[in-house]
Amino acid sequence: MAIEKTYNMIKPDGVRNGHIGEIIARIERVGLTIERMELGMVSAEEAKANYAEHEGKSFYDGLIAYITSGPVVKMVVSGENAVATMRKLMGATNPAEAAPGTIRGDFGLTMDENVIHGSDSVESAEREIGVFFGA
Ligand code: RTP
Ligand code: MG
Repeated sequence: MAIEKTYNMIKPDGVRNGHIGEIIARIERVGLTIERMELGMVSAEEAKANYAEHEGKSFYDGLIAYITSGPVVKMVVSGENAVATMRKLMGATNPAEAAPGTIRGDFGLTMDENVIHGSDSVESAEREIGVFFGA
């Protein structure tokens, strides 16, 4: 294994519902390192760049509206196997199917508000870190 970086973002519902502390605690507890962290809005440009792969899909407009609807917590997380480890902590995309004990399983109910984002590969992580924190 190698030390990886991943991009994670506590989405507007996670911030609004008061889950920042518990989510950060889970990331630290597993042994990953939060390298950068910033609370703020996602611009329309950042949202479109982050979710370019979904352009044209039925849920795309709602997704952009959701992710720009309130403050988020943008993070660079690093450590052994960080991309897959964060995806494991996050749980399935749909909170209704995410296992109890996962972030989405514990703090979400429906697909349209699923609490947290995590890069799906090292390549996506590099691109997303560039979008949100610059090169
Ligand atoms: P994310 O990119 O946010 O970490 O989530 P993911 O990889 O688990 O899921 P992805 O397929 O990349 O979908 C991105 C986000 O779009 C919303 N979504 N809604 N209504 C729907 O069918 C639907 N499908 C996806 C979710 O917010 C999902 O996290
Ligand atoms: Mg994704």
